Amino acid sequence: MTSSVHHFLALCSIILFFISPSIAQKSFRPKALFLPVSKDSSSLQYITHVNQRTPLVSQKLVVDLGGQYLWVDCEQAGHVSSSYRRARCGSIQCKLVKSINCINNGTCTVSPDNTVTGTYDIAELGEDVVSIRYSNGYNPGREASGRKFLFGCAPTHLLEDLARGVKGMAGLGRNKVSLPSQFSAAFSFHKKFAICLSSSNQANGGSIFFGNGPYFMLPNNIDISKSLTYTPLIINPVSTAINYNAGEPSSEYFIGVKSIKINGNPVKLNSTLLSINKEGYGGTKISTVHRYTVLETSIYNSVVKAFVQAMANISEVVQHG
Ligand SMILES: *[C@@H]1O[C@H](CO)[C@@H](O)[C@H](O)[C@H]1NC(C)=O
Ligand SMILES: *[C@@H]1O[C@H](CO)[C@@H](O)[C@H](O)[C@H]1NC(C)=O
Ligand SMILES: *[C@@H]1O[C@H](CO)[C@@H](O)[C@H](O)[C@H]1NC(C)=O
Repeated sequence: MTSSVHHFLALCSIILFFISPSIAQKSFRPKALFLPVSKDSSSLQYITHVNQRTPLVSQKLVVDLGGQYLWVDCEQAGHVSSSYRRARCGSIQCKLVKSINCINNGTCTVSPDNTVTGTYDIAELGEDVVSIRYSNGYNPGREASGRKFLFGCAPTHLLEDLARGVKGMAGLGRNKVSLPSQFSAAFSFHKKFAICLSSSNQANGGSIFFGNGPYFMLPNNIDISKSLTYTPLIINPVSTAINYNAGEPSSEYFIGVKSIKINGNPVKLNSTLLSINKEGYGGTKISTVHRYTVLETSIYNSVVKAFVQAMANISEVVQHG
């Protein structure tokens, strides 16, 4: 089966994201940062670890490619951070996430999604230290720290159905407060990242590189940025978050799939569904939170039918052989 969708979910396919041209370049800083990614074998979720807070805690997080920002469980016991700061209502931080909602002592809130269960809750917007490893393209180096890293401070129950031990989600979406955006702003490198998803449950099975390549992959140290196939990313002008402000575009990454081929033959489908409509429905997004490729019902039925037909030929050959 060779659907374009599957190419993107193939084992360890590297996906490169250019969010927008770089902004100002400051003094010399690390050119790239690195996070390890593994796959949890029971939930099939992609897992990373981010060091956060004071004293530093290694937060186990589900990687959410189209997620809006980092959110973590702030109700976990023993996790008082001396460097945590709430975002004051009306502050530049609240404006950055377009938050107009205030709670408690004038702290603004965000509405993080648990994109696995399709639920959201209200979370305090806060900032704290995040520490992440440099990358020279080969090996992860020493740690770089950013003090003012914005995230959603969520209630524990938002962790429902996330892999065991997980404390939140790492959003890599195309907005101003996602991990790639905050890292590029803090360390003044290109708003660009690469993600290699591996089916391995080993900690170094996959990687996320923030900033410029080369991106060398073990075991053979091959620079994979040289062997990529490119496809443009498409913006969905309507947010796909559960709770959002009108006029907000989606933070998810869409691509322009034009056909699905099985055994070289195009599957008959309603091609209108392959485009994003005025309400933001349709199109093809790349996601790291669904276990399998998800298809619209009529497309799914056509794919199954075409697949069965293609397989019928194969089984005939096997029987006669
Ligand atoms: C409000 O702020 C005061 C002073 O900073 C603090 O003592 C109090 O605990 C805060 N209340 C809430 C609900 O956060
Ligand atoms: C194709 O899908 C669009 C959007 O759902 C729908 O409006 C249209 O009627 C469909 N066309 C056919 C031939 O089924
Ligand atoms: C089945 O095999 C025959 C003979 O090789 C070929 O002509 C036909 O196109 C195949 N059908 C499908 C659905 O692949």
